[in-house]
Amino acid sequence: MNTRSTTPAPSRVHTAELPVLPIVITTLMSMDVNDEDSFTKLLKLARLEPCLAVKVLRIAATAGTVRGWDTLEKAMIRIGVSGLHRVVSEQSSAQIFVPTTLAEKGMWLHFLQVAMLSERLAQTFSQLRIDSDKAYLAGLLHDVGRLIRYEIIAHSPNEIESSDYHNPETLLHAETQAFGHSHVKIGSDACGSWSLPGYLNAAIAHHHNALNKLSKHDIESRRIVEVVQFADELSVFALRRFSESAEALHELIQGFMSERSVFLKTQKLKPGLLAELLKQTIEQSEQRFLDLSVGPVKQKLSPAAAVHRVFSA
Ligand SMILES: [Fe+2]
Ligand SMILES: [Fe+2]
Repeated sequence: MNTRSTTPAPSRVHTAELPVLPIVITTLMSMDVNDEDSFTKLLKLARLEPCLAVKVLRIAATAGTVRGWDTLEKAMIRIGVSGLHRVVSEQSSAQIFVPTTLAEKGMWLHFLQVAMLSERLAQTFSQLRIDSDKAYLAGLLHDVGRLIRYEIIAHSPNEIESSDYHNPETLLHAETQAFGHSHVKIGSDACGSWSLPGYLNAAIAHHHNALNKLSKHDIESRRIVEVVQFADELSVFALRRFSESAEALHELIQGFMSERSVFLKTQKLKPGLLAELLKQTIEQSEQRFLDLSVGPVKQKLSPAAAVHRVFSA
């Protein structure tokens, strides 16, 4: 990829400016916030949509301190009906992101995969005592910097996906080459002013860093970040390395669990079981992707089919 003139990373991002999918606008515009099911509808949608989730959390943050609303559901309870009104009214000025290319759809699929994989890993490694709702939300938001950059450079997902990155590290390199900064820099700068719960700031800012960058005393954040890192690696494998063999996937799992991991390596789990978890979650993420109403994932970008091939090789 050629280095071209760089676009400065924004230092402050107002959450109202974050781009959302068309389904967010159509759902919210047709929603009667006084209806009993409006809470459930918004929660379901925010669990699919990182930018909507951030907006809900941000409204909860302006209603008081972080304590007591550290998951999406609790944030929704905190904002109440007046907060729902605010979410709806703010959408009239929101940027709309319509994923049409393989790269754009792949980026959305990645958000869902990392959220769902993080949740499953938290449930599977129950001895680590990670709240699976927090793990899901951290996975959903970890790459929010990529969406902020989309707002500035609309073709950025396509430019990055056409590079030859094959793991999170090479993705960062490709971004820095193309734009002069990575999505981590954009995301961490932006979330600094959003007053999100600490574990979410940690996931956005540190999901590509060694855990020792985080405070030793914040065990919860360190565990959540590690789970998100592992989910990120697995999702990138499913999206970018699906033509490789089952051995390559087992190698990745072994490498992470035995060498890079701090918390997961203390857990006993056979790589085969983890691979099965990956296969199931990838299939479920494609189902959930359909709920975004941006059309199916085309065959060329079909990780579920690809992972199935890896396992039946
Ligand atoms: Fe990332
Ligand atoms: Fe990621």
